[in-house]
Amino acid sequence: MDGAKYIGGKGVCVIVVAAGSGRRFGAPLPKQYCDMDGRPVLMVALERIKAVWPEAEVLLVINDDYRGLWLEMCGRHDFESPRMVSGGDTRWQSVRNALDVMPRGVDVVAVHDAARPMFTPEVGSGLIDAICAGRQGAIPVVSMVDSLRRVDGDGGSKSVDRAEFRAVQTPQLFRADLLVEAYSRPYSSVMTDDASVMEAAGYMDIALTEGDEALMKITRPHDIEIVRMLAKEV
Ligand code: C5P
Repeated sequence: MDGAKYIGGKGVCVIVVAAGSGRRFGAPLPKQYCDMDGRPVLMVALERIKAVWPEAEVLLVINDDYRGLWLEMCGRHDFESPRMVSGGDTRWQSVRNALDVMPRGVDVVAVHDAARPMFTPEVGSGLIDAICAGRQGAIPVVSMVDSLRRVDGDGGSKSVDRAEFRAVQTPQLFRADLLVEAYSRPYSSVMTDDASVMEAAGYMDIALTEGDEALMKITRPHDIEIVRMLAKEV
């Protein structure tokens, strides 16, 4: 085993993608650097990964323009940053950059959005159990609470049965060899997460495990307030 650490008998590497610019967030700083109870969102996300999977090797994908700010934040909070990797123009490219420098001997890769700080041990166990049971991948999902409609682009729409849909969260876990192979194929704009990259490569054996409302992604400014409140409850 060269670098990666064992969880449930598997060597796990966690890629935390934090290189987005967060344009929808509308704050002067990308959302992952905004304050969440005295510490930046990204630090909370990394601490929770460490708490749930203390033995995992973590790679942090970061935009080079914010590397200095991040290191300054780490110094201020006496926090040791995981190994950093330069981000790309898309989430797909950011993940690929990390896979390119992943340590050898990794059995399982988890990819996690820094913008989802509230990872829990329960979500982590569900994912690891599915992988240990031999699935190619495992992703946390939650049911839809709103009614859903499919829009047709001409102003029309049609209701769909929300029971047929799930919202997908991260971290998403995959067999390392399959994920690396899936990411060696060309990019398409429908690849908004890692499960969609696996699917495009023909790897469909992906378990849906229990997600958590608190694992929501911070996207709009008020989301950080909701996550701050949920952080007090979890
Ligand atoms: O933009 P979105 O919220 O979908 O991004 C999901 C995650 O992917 C965020 O944590 C973001 O920082 C990361 N990301 C990245 N590199 C990009 C775009 C997004 O690491 N080029």
